[in-house]
Amino acid sequence: MDFEKNILCIGAGYVGGPTMAMIASKCPKYKVTVVDINEDRIRKWNSDNLPIYEPGLDEIVKKVRGKNLFFSTELNKHIRENRIIFVSVNTPTKTFGQGAGKAADLQYWEKTARQILANSTTPKIIVEKSTLPVRTAETMGQILNGNNKNVQFDVISNPEFLSEGTAINDLENPDRVLIGSKETPEGIRARQEIVEIYANWVSHNRIIESNIWSSELSKLTANAFLAQRISSINSMSALCEKTEADIDEVAYAIGTDSRIGPKFLKASVGFGGSCFKKDILNLVYICQSYGLTEVADYWESVVKINEWQERRFIQNIISNMFNTVAGKKIALFGFAFKANTGDIRESPAIYIARGLLEEKAHIIISDPRALPNARDYFKDIQEDVTFEMDPYRVAKGAHAIAILTEWELYRNLDFKRILKSMAQPAFIFDGRNILDHNKLFKLGFNVFAIGKSPLKHF
Ligand code: UDX
Ligand code: ADP
Repeated sequence: MDFEKNILCIGAGYVGGPTMAMIASKCPKYKVTVVDINEDRIRKWNSDNLPIYEPGLDEIVKKVRGKNLFFSTELNKHIRENRIIFVSVNTPTKTFGQGAGKAADLQYWEKTARQILANSTTPKIIVEKSTLPVRTAETMGQILNGNNKNVQFDVISNPEFLSEGTAINDLENPDRVLIGSKETPEGIRARQEIVEIYANWVSHNRIIESNIWSSELSKLTANAFLAQRISSINSMSALCEKTEADIDEVAYAIGTDSRIGPKFLKASVGFGGSCFKKDILNLVYICQSYGLTEVADYWESVVKINEWQERRFIQNIISNMFNTVAGKKIALFGFAFKANTGDIRESPAIYIARGLLEEKAHIIISDPRALPNARDYFKDIQEDVTFEMDPYRVAKGAHAIAILTEWELYRNLDFKRILKSMAQPAFIFDGRNILDHNKLFKLGFNVFAIGKSPLKHF
């Protein structure tokens, strides 16, 4: 069958995989290929056991895989054959050299750019999907166009705003799709080609076109603003704990102001995920490199409050459990960075678990989707960490339960049965404010929630 367009995506991760599955599903006339250097990942994308858990993803992949969606490890071949290439390889925070701990590590991106260059003999449109520092497109353009092959490359920025756990809905009904390009005739023509892809299912008034720098910076800014709301409400949660105000009541009251709005005001043990911290630190680094120290400090405080909130949670556990958790068994309910995903990247649970291990606690971890990743994370520190899917077994004999991910199943457990099986006095630290605290207190638990007065029997 002849396809109207051939699209390639380099990088079959949390962004590349679901995004390309959606494009293939909405555009049966296009052939979509996803390539990755990780053979195991590609094998899983071609199996019944996809490498990532995302509600609704299995169904879409099953519908289109082998028809117009293909997963492969043959990068060079597919680069040669495709004119439109999305790049969604990972861009972690640099761990070495200049900008270590803040700047984005662009080695995977640059490798990809060079590989594209080496395998191109015809003009191509390169679409940045990974979140990248502002002006990366320019660098990529320089690498790609600084060749003596006489091949034209147009670099487009098309940042992804999907959020894990709701990725399929976010892709199907996006608030907006952002497409940035150079404002040259070739740049605008290339941009139109990408607009055309999304216009198959997204209405034109939700497709925003901009210059390339605005597009790149908008992604960092969106994540910084979202994370800032969480740090703002989390900072207030500390004040609530001192003043007998209730953070959920405060969040509801301020969220009804239409200028503030109700979303992203849920106080928690802290935000996690692969994007927020990385993107803010990246923003901080960019500001510092332009000499904008005040702007850099302002945004860095969002990350600092988050780290403080995580630390505060551990301190709260220790001080309320008679100043020691050594030798005590602490049940962690949830390890994913949020519900409905198995992803643990930057999960606050990692930080909490490590903090408790340093205090010589024994931790036992439960999570309906993230146990394989949690096991993998702790593969070198096995003695004081155990893993168990069933929350009732996790709680058995435990001195405390810490709720670290807002999985729906934790709301509906039989806490009377759980209490009976635990060491007494029994503690619950609700890091997501999802439980009925008064009910738990009446059952006999000592209950500590975020931004609420403690409920204790002693
Ligand atoms: C985020 C952005 O939302 C998305 O647009 C971008 O493309 C990638 O980064 P993601 O990290 O998948 O998405 O999840 P998100 O729902 O934003 O949650 C991030 C973290 O904030 C989670 O740990 C979540 O539990 C926490 N959170 C979120 C809160 O603590 N309180 C809230 O009110 C909302
Ligand atoms: P994201 O959440 O941004 O999608 P992931 O880490 O889930 O990030 O996915 C990025 C993917 O990019 C990984 O599967 C990784 O193997 C892949 N990748 C990294 N470098 C290259 C490269 N040079 N060529 C092809 N794939 C790459």
